[in-house]
Amino acid sequence: MAVYVIGSLNIDMFFDVDHFVRPKETLMPERTQVLPGGKGLNQACACAKGKAQTWIAGKIGTDGTLLLDTLNKAGVDTTFVETEKDKLSGRAVIQRDRKAENCILLDPGANHALDKEDFEKVLVHVGPEDIVLIQNEISNLDVLATLLKEKECFVVFNPAPVTKDIPDDLSFVSCLVMNEVEIEQLLGESGKPEFLCGEWLKRYPDSSIVLTLSSSGSLYMDKDKTIFMPAYKVHAVDTTGAGDTFTGFLCAMLDRGFLIETALQFASAASAIAVTMPGAASSIPDLEVVKEKIEQNGDVCPIRR
Ligand code: RIB
Repeated sequence: MAVYVIGSLNIDMFFDVDHFVRPKETLMPERTQVLPGGKGLNQACACAKGKAQTWIAGKIGTDGTLLLDTLNKAGVDTTFVETEKDKLSGRAVIQRDRKAENCILLDPGANHALDKEDFEKVLVHVGPEDIVLIQNEISNLDVLATLLKEKECFVVFNPAPVTKDIPDDLSFVSCLVMNEVEIEQLLGESGKPEFLCGEWLKRYPDSSIVLTLSSSGSLYMDKDKTIFMPAYKVHAVDTTGAGDTFTGFLCAMLDRGFLIETALQFASAASAIAVTMPGAASSIPDLEVVKEKIEQNGDVCPIRR
């Protein structure tokens, strides 16, 4: 069993600011950092750190050495990462304020050079026991969705960011992972987390959904059960990539055969640790650190509702 991530690889340029730049304003950052990122890369690194056998398929530009090095160091197999000779890697310009909030400007770069042939090259290796994990920062998502519909495997979809590129028919999804804002955008409805999860399941009853609720925790729902996982209390310094750490650890634990309760607990602990450190991929903790966090907080457990 393995996890195949098909997704984005970005160079994240972080700017620490007192407040987000306003119209007509010029602001000097207090600190600037260039770090590896991209939802695909972050989630793949988290999967590998969760000790799942992990592949990533994606595209970088000639400036992508940092991205390849990061993946290799985390233990991700990069056989399916191709370098586009005449392109630059995806780039995210991230403002990070004193409240640990961020806002992101994203230039997809080489991430938007992925096509059907690239998807087929990796999907031919995917078996029925494997997980395919995708997000919405690459090109031709509709083509990938059609190919996945024909494949027998478990598909985890993190439809972030929510854009018009997300296919109307999401019946290829086995498990949807997203936050509260994104699900409201996706469904075009608003309401409490339970209601939103229920609305998703009305449309796709054979799938499951995990809603991340920031510092309140996360909620899992399928047609048989609802599980609430409270959040670990931490002091956040940077929330960038926290959702990716959550999603990657969730997939790793599911791939390794753990129950959803355990997967939620590891995902929650890993993302809580991630927000205490700056950066996206660089803040993903090792499995041992996550285990320690869980042991030290025995009272923070998944609850059946
Ligand atoms: O989810 C966080 C990621 O979103 C960052 O690493 C950035 O690259 C953007 O894609």
